Amino acid sequence: MSVVVVGSINTDITSYSEVLPRIGETVMGNSYAMELGGKGANQAAAVARLGAKVEFVGRIGADAFGELALGRLAEFGVSTRYSAKDPESATGIAVIGVDAQGQNAITIVPGANLRLGEKELLEALASFERTKVLMLQLEIPVATCVAAARAARERGVIVVLDPAPAPLAPLPDELYSLIDVITPNETEAEVLLGLRPRTLEEARRAAHELVARGVRAAIVTVGERGAYVASSLAGDTEGPVAPFVVRAVSTVAAGDCFNAGLAVALSEGKNLMEAARFASACGALCVTKPGSAASAPKREDVEELLAGT
Ligand code: RIB
Repeated sequence: MSVVVVGSINTDITSYSEVLPRIGETVMGNSYAMELGGKGANQAAAVARLGAKVEFVGRIGADAFGELALGRLAEFGVSTRYSAKDPESATGIAVIGVDAQGQNAITIVPGANLRLGEKELLEALASFERTKVLMLQLEIPVATCVAAARAARERGVIVVLDPAPAPLAPLPDELYSLIDVITPNETEAEVLLGLRPRTLEEARRAAHELVARGVRAAIVTVGERGAYVASSLAGDTEGPVAPFVVRAVSTVAAGDCFNAGLAVALSEGKNLMEAARFASACGALCVTKPGSAASAPKREDVEELLAGT
């Protein structure tokens, strides 16, 4: 395996409407879709679509949604042999609204995702032995992320943490020290650091602050202004990553595709700046399509976008 993802899996129910409803309001939608989602599953699907071998370690409920979601992940070519079925919980669900500008609002009901723990990790450790990159997000217990990151670090595996959704409590110091690359967007950086980066200069400062907390490198994204890469490793170059200008249809899973691109590039031995640029192209292409896992870009489209700049 090039990549192991320990993370969430959801069924997403997504409505598309001109505007998102305000509190107390009902709006008419144009269409809807029910599909595979969850940040972990989206990232695994996107890694597979980019052509890398990937293992997904997650937990579904004992219901039809869970079977559908795992089945869809397998159709992407993701291995799910270490994912578990929880007889006592429902599969995670996300209710998503997308407006005509491609902006979204998401409510998740995590269900079985919040019971992903030691049992699955212990069983999956065999796959850690043979992998290059571990991908984590925050839709599963933080304790599971710490345990997975610890196991990865002991085996020399690169750990990428997408701190999404923004955590409700400060992340443990130990987790920072186990992360190779952390990838917050503006909102997540604001929650982690107490200051929202809006410009590249502010992203630079935020990235350095995260490095000071113990991560080896940080990539702070600031939407259409691009991203900033900072690293504590002597061999890494740091600096801004220029954005790709695209027409947004839906921003759902853009962060997931960014992180998938980063993990694939790092697993192939690209340096951090090259990997961040590859990630940025993946995130940009994702927003040109509707859907969650379904919006993951193909490798040839990413290469074409990169070649054209
Ligand atoms: O990042 C997008 C994902 O967030 C959706 O697929 C939804 O399930 C939530 O987890």
